[in-house]
Amino acid sequence: MEYETPLFFRVMKYAADADRDVIDVVSGNPDWEPPAALRNGLREYADLEPDAFQYAPSVGLTELREEIATRRGVDVEQVIITNGTGEANYLAMARALERDRGDEILLTDPVYPYYPGKTTMLGGRQTFVATDADGQLDPAAVREAASEETAAIVVNSPNNPTGAIYPAETIRKLVAIAEEHDALLVSDEVYDHFDLEGRFASALEVESAHRIVTNGFSKSMAITGVRVGYAIFPHDLVENARSRHMLVNVSTTRPGQYAVLNALRETEPAYYERNRDLLRERVETFTDALDAVGAEYTTPQGAFYVMARFDGFPGTLENTYRLIDEAGVAGMPGEVFGESRREWLRFALVTPRIEEAAERLATYFG
Ligand SMILES: Cc1ncc(COP(=O)(O)O)c(C=O)c1O
Repeated sequence: MEYETPLFFRVMKYAADADRDVIDVVSGNPDWEPPAALRNGLREYADLEPDAFQYAPSVGLTELREEIATRRGVDVEQVIITNGTGEANYLAMARALERDRGDEILLTDPVYPYYPGKTTMLGGRQTFVATDADGQLDPAAVREAASEETAAIVVNSPNNPTGAIYPAETIRKLVAIAEEHDALLVSDEVYDHFDLEGRFASALEVESAHRIVTNGFSKSMAITGVRVGYAIFPHDLVENARSRHMLVNVSTTRPGQYAVLNALRETEPAYYERNRDLLRERVETFTDALDAVGAEYTTPQGAFYVMARFDGFPGTLENTYRLIDEAGVAGMPGEVFGESRREWLRFALVTPRIEEAAERLATYFG
């Protein structure tokens, strides 16, 4: 079996090799400061005794697990510290498939492409359930698609790429569907701090032995390179996931865990609010420019992304390259997120050059 290199790397390389100035609105790397306590934690770490440079407990530093368990209202035994949300999703999906309750993973369309990538890698089969024009997922459509073959339903709210936030009622129904089919709801909540309208509902609000919540600090603390995330498993499913995590990773970065713990303890809510304010401003600047050229677009309720559709300019890889060469703006082709957004392009609002990117698009499509 062959795994495809995520297309995102190809677009980044094409943009980097272009012989003109290109604004990168491809990747989900925050451009703002991590919390000061994160930097301080890393600095402090460098001067610790040699034993701090040895293996951390495989399941994660105890104090970090305790801090997360307290904040999320779960038992510390349920928490595994992972190599980012990416690994947490992998552990959750692998756990769902190894239960022998079917080999189908229900995903949304559009979808964060790593989910189908992981499904294939794990030998599962994917079935897509279309979301509506605003990226909302109708639980009735999920119920219709679900069967005894369904091992997991994997969702992401706030959503990459649509920016949709699912209401508490949707989450509650998705958990109920997972329970009805003896499947697992995997809820990836990595953008929870980027709830721009105060609507976010965590799957942890629904008590169930059929839901796994994944999360991480890559986005909330602007540290995609540090690699610290976590998964919260139901009690009876956590043991195997711990073993898989241990066999694949031994353990997760110890300096990273230490610094994240320091940042969790010391960072004021104002830090997160500032970043949301910045994003709200960028969304406005960017969508104003899209309005000016009559483009259709999604206004995100959360996360970092705006999807846009320009008449006569479908979101193919070829057009993405054209936009790099001719407008100097690098976005992501909508086709990588699934069938339903083939006409669309995705732009990540994580560069200080949003105003310039917006102007370039307005000039190009104007
Ligand atoms: C929906 C979603 N899940 C997971 C990840 C990966 O997060 P992490 O860096 O914590 O592995 C991303 C990164 O873009 C994402 O968009």
